[in-house]
Amino acid sequence: MSAPSTGPATGPSSNQLDKKSEAWSALFSEPMSELVKRYTASVFFDQRLWRADIAGSLAHAEMLCAQGIISTDDAASIERGMAQITQDIEAGRFEWKLDLEDVHLNIEARLTQLVGDAGKRLHTGRSRNDQVATDVRLWLRDEIDTILPLLGAMQSALVDVADKNVETILPGFTHMQVAQPVSFGHHMLAYVEMFARDAERLVDLRRRVNRLPLGAAALAGTSYPLDRERVARTLGFDGVCQNSLDAVSDRDFALEFSAFASITMVHISRLAEELVLWMSQNFGFIDLADRYCTGSSIMPQKRNPDVAELARGKSGRVVGHLMGLITLMKSQPLTYNKDNQEDKEPLFDTVDTVRDTLRIMAEMVAGIIVKPEAMERAALKGYATATDLADYLVKKGVPFRDAHETVAHAVKTAIGQGVDLSELSLDTLQGFHPGIDASVHEVLTLRGSLNARNVLGGTAPAQVRLQIARHRARLG
Ligand code: ARG
Repeated sequence: MSAPSTGPATGPSSNQLDKKSEAWSALFSEPMSELVKRYTASVFFDQRLWRADIAGSLAHAEMLCAQGIISTDDAASIERGMAQITQDIEAGRFEWKLDLEDVHLNIEARLTQLVGDAGKRLHTGRSRNDQVATDVRLWLRDEIDTILPLLGAMQSALVDVADKNVETILPGFTHMQVAQPVSFGHHMLAYVEMFARDAERLVDLRRRVNRLPLGAAALAGTSYPLDRERVARTLGFDGVCQNSLDAVSDRDFALEFSAFASITMVHISRLAEELVLWMSQNFGFIDLADRYCTGSSIMPQKRNPDVAELARGKSGRVVGHLMGLITLMKSQPLTYNKDNQEDKEPLFDTVDTVRDTLRIMAEMVAGIIVKPEAMERAALKGYATATDLADYLVKKGVPFRDAHETVAHAVKTAIGQGVDLSELSLDTLQGFHPGIDASVHEVLTLRGSLNARNVLGGTAPAQVRLQIARHRARLG
C-alpha cells in the first residue's frame, strides 16, 4: 500500500509521470503524507543502481521488440531516451525526485517525458520486483569484478613481503605465548592462504549472483511471450532464475556476498591487529610508513597506526551488515515484500568498505618496514626451541612423552640460570640425558629449528620458497 492520487481519477494529465501515483493507478483517493513519502522512498540511495537499471531496461526493450511485443520505432525511441538520460545522469543534470520513490520510477518517468508512449510501453511484462532484483545482481556482479583483482593485489603484496623475509625469524605464538620460531615469510603466507580462500569464495558465489530474475514480473511470470534467455545473454548473465516466486524474493546472493565480505574483513582485522601489535614499542617488529600513521594532538612523541586500527574496526560494521541482512530475510513470506528495499544500504556499504579496505591494506602491507633483529631477539626469549630438544631426544630413541618431561626440567634449569636452552653447558644438558652430545647446540639454534621443519606446509625456508613459487604462478 502506498500511493495517493493527487487529483480526480482521470489518469495522468500529460506524458510526464512526475508523481509516482501516476505510475500505477487511479485507485488512491488521498495523498501520501510527506513523512510516509520520505519513509518509503529509496531514491536517495538506490539511484546508485542507475546504470544497471538502464542496462536492464535496454535489454528488456530489445527483447520485447525482437518478440514483436513492441514496435521497432518504440524500441528505438526507448534507446534514444535512455541515451539522453545516461548523459544527464553522468553530467549531474538529472533531477531525482522523491515523489517518484525510487530509481526505477524516476528513470521510467523521465523516459516517458522524453519519448512519450514508447516510454510507457517499456514496463510491459515487467514489474519493479523483478527489475530491482535484476539491477542489484547486475550492480553487484560488476562490483565483484572490481573486488576480485583487489584480493589478488593483496595476496601479491603479501607474497612480496614474504619473498624478502624467508630467512627472517620471528617467534610464532600460540595463546600469545612464544611457541616456536617461524619464518616471517611463512607468517605472511598464512594470510595469503586466507585471502586466496576468500577469492575462491567470491568466484564461486558470483555464479549464483549472475542469474537473471527478469521475466518473473511481479511474482508469477507474465502472459507475454518473453525470451528470458535472450535478455540473460544480452546482460551477460550465466543463466535464468528458474522459479518466478524465488526470482523476485531471493536475496541469498546478497547474503552470500555479505558473508564473503565478513570473512574477508575478519581476515583483514587479524592482519591489522598483528600490525598494530608489532608496531607497538613492546614488540618493535615492524614500522609502518608515516603516510599510514597519525600523530597525537597532545602527546608529541606519538605515531599511531590509525589505518590498521580502522581496518580492524571496520570489520565490525561489515559483520553487522551481514547480521542485518540475514535478519531482514528471516521469516519473510514469499514473495517480494517491501522489507527487501532495506537490502541496499547495508550491501552498498559492505561493498564500499571491503573494497576500500583491501586497497589501503594492500598498499600499507607493501610498504611495511621489517625489523629482523627485533623479531629474532624476541624469538630467543621464551624457550622457543624446547620442542627441538625433545625431538632431538626422540631421535636418540627416547619416547616422546619422556623427552617432553626431560626438556621441561631443562627449561626450568635454564629459567633458574636466566639463560636460553642453547646457553646451557653440554655438561648440564648431559645431566638431563646421557645421549646428548655436542651436536645438540645446532639443534637449539633458531635457524636449526626452522630448517628442521622441512615438511610440506612447514616453516623451513626451503618449504617457504616452494610456496612462494606456487603462489606466484597462481597469481600470475
Ligand atoms: N524500491 C523497491 C526496492 O528497492 C523496488 C521494488 C518495489 N516493488 C514494489 N512492489 N513496491 O525493493
